[in-house]
This record gives sequence, structure tokens and C-alpha cells, in this order.
Amino acid sequence: MGKRIFSGIQPTGAVHIGNYVGAIKQWVDLQHKYESFFCIVDYHAITIPYDPSDMQQRIFDAVVDNIAAGLDPEIATIFIQSHVPEHTELTWLFNSITPMGWLGRMTQFKEKSEQFKESVNVGLYDYPVLQAADILLYKAQVVPVGEDQVQHVELTRDIARKFNVTFGDTFPDPEAILGAAPRIMGLNDPTRKMSKSIPGSYVSLSDSPDEIRQSVMRAVTDVGPTPGGEMSPGTANLFMLLREFSPPETVQRFQDDYDRGAIRYSDLKKVLAEDMVAALAPIREAREKLLQQPETVREVLRRGAEKARGIARETVREVKERMGLG
Ligand code: TYM
Repeated sequence: MGKRIFSGIQPTGAVHIGNYVGAIKQWVDLQHKYESFFCIVDYHAITIPYDPSDMQQRIFDAVVDNIAAGLDPEIATIFIQSHVPEHTELTWLFNSITPMGWLGRMTQFKEKSEQFKESVNVGLYDYPVLQAADILLYKAQVVPVGEDQVQHVELTRDIARKFNVTFGDTFPDPEAILGAAPRIMGLNDPTRKMSKSIPGSYVSLSDSPDEIRQSVMRAVTDVGPTPGGEMSPGTANLFMLLREFSPPETVQRFQDDYDRGAIRYSDLKKVLAEDMVAALAPIREAREKLLQQPETVREVLRRGAEKARGIARETVREVKERMGLG
């Protein structure tokens, strides 16, 4: 059997260019190479406070954004996590072999429990076990993600190994793979990663050309000379984006200007903004079209859940048998 890919994205509102260059662009390439499963992880999204009345819309938007960005439902399996109940069933089975200490060490848990002090729930703590179940249900070996998810994929390996040692060889060792831009920082605060929860930090795939221009022109660059001549975080971030959205000659030209100490950030930002507008235009167009075809999108999800469920059921059956649960 060829290798399988699994990756997921939370339906937390508009997909941003951090998600796009950090993860989705890789998925779009890799879907031609491996059997692929891409999941909108709604069970992960309910571990922080949210409004149930717009959840369905956010899920739908996330699916549309991903297809518009290039995921091809004819090749890849695209589905909603909660449509495949085996995700939670395997989570429970894994809970019983996962030491609490492993979860307490997770950076994302520590950050989110700081951010949502009032609502640190068991789900937030158990979140990485659900993520391990996502990946291992499909026995995926390849997990293309941004840098912030690497620790969760490593935990998934630990869970897979522990299961194999305890109950017999069942799961492969999944491996996180990173693209060329695994960590895009916030435009307005380049010391923190670009994130939907930080207003002003991101450009989303649904932004209009003017919104894109505005966000890029406001991006923070040098805040004074950096000791050791290293690029400041804001400047390095803009160069990272330039490498993703502009042709190599453009990157080289600004790199030369930078090296000569003659760079003008407003020029760089103008060029970056226009190249970003051009690169995102086809996605925006595809998105508008898909929004007019909700039935087609729902059909993709029905087919996706059915395909995923066939495999998920088989894995859970095998796991229960190995665990003496028949
Ligand atoms: P999520 O929804 O936060 O992000 C989806 C993907 O986008 C990447 N990403 C970034 N990459 C570069 N720069 C950024 N600023 C940036 N922000 C986000 C993320 O690394 C991720 O690859 N827990 C996961 C979803 C998940 C999952 C899985 C992923 C659930 N189950 C199984 C892989 C396999 C999450 O919250 O991603």
C-alpha cells in the first residue's frame, strides 16, 4: 500500500495565509503523490469558547476555502471530523494509554489555558489525543503541518509506539513534514505567530484586494537596528512571504537592497501586496463560485465521510480486538 497523508484544520473562521503557506499549499502538492485525507476538525474547535449559532457556517467556509485553495475532492478525501464518530471512540481508547504528564507538557495547551483562563476544560487538555486518533485512524505516515503542530505529531508517534508495544504492532510511525514557510508571524506583531485570534495579524483568503493591501502596508518592519546584523522578525517575516508570493528575481532584488542597506520597506510592501493580491485572486474567485453551490459542497462532504468511515471503522475494530474488547 502507498503512503497515506492526514492533516486537519480547525473551522475557526476565515482561513489565513499562515494556514495557506504553512499547510494547505503542501496538501495541494502532496495530494497527487499520496492517498490523502483532509479533515475539518470541529471537535477540536469546541474546546475553546465559541458561538454554536455560527459553527455550521464556519465549517462550511473552511471547506470552501480549502477546495478553492486547491484541494481536489476528486483526488483527496475531504470530510468533517464529527461525521466520523470513530474519531472520538479511538480517542477514548488512546486516553487509557496516554500518561497525563505527556499532555501537561504540550506548549499549545499551556498557551491556550493561559489565553482562556476561565474555561480550561478536559477537552482542551485531551485535544492532542484526539489529534493522535485523527492521524492513526487512517494509519497515516505523512502529516504535513505548520511548525506549531510538530509537537502534537511527536506525541502521536509516542502514542502509536506505546500502543504497539502494549498491544502488538498496529500503527505506523507518522512523520510531520514542514513546508518552506512553516511559521508565519503576525503582520502587526511579528513576535507572535499569525493567528485568527489576533486581529490585524493576518490576511485571510477571503480578503478583498484593498484589505490585503491595507494589512500588508501596515506590517511592522524594523524597529531599530538589530544587534549582530540579523534581520528583525518583522523584516524576516516579510521576506518569507515575498519568497512565497513573488518571483525569485523580486526576492533577490530586495535582498540585494537589504544587503546594501538601501532597502525601502514601503516599496517591498507595495510589491508584496500586489503579488499577494494576484496570487489570491483565483482562490477568491473559486471561493465565490463554490459559495453559490452549497449542494455540491455538501455532496463532497457526504462522500468524504463515507470513504473515511469505512477505514476508520476497520481500525477501531482492530484496536478493540487487540485491547481485549472484542
Ligand atoms: P490549525 O487549524 O491551527 O491550523 C491549520 C494548519 O495551519 C498551520 N498554521 C500555520 N503555519 C504557518 N504559520 C502560521 N502562522 C500558522 N498558523 C497555522 C498549522 O500548523 C496547521 O498545520 N490541531 C491542528 C488541527 C489538527 C490536525 C490534526 C493537524 C487536528 N487534527 C491531525 C494535523 C493532523 C490545528 O489546530 O491546526
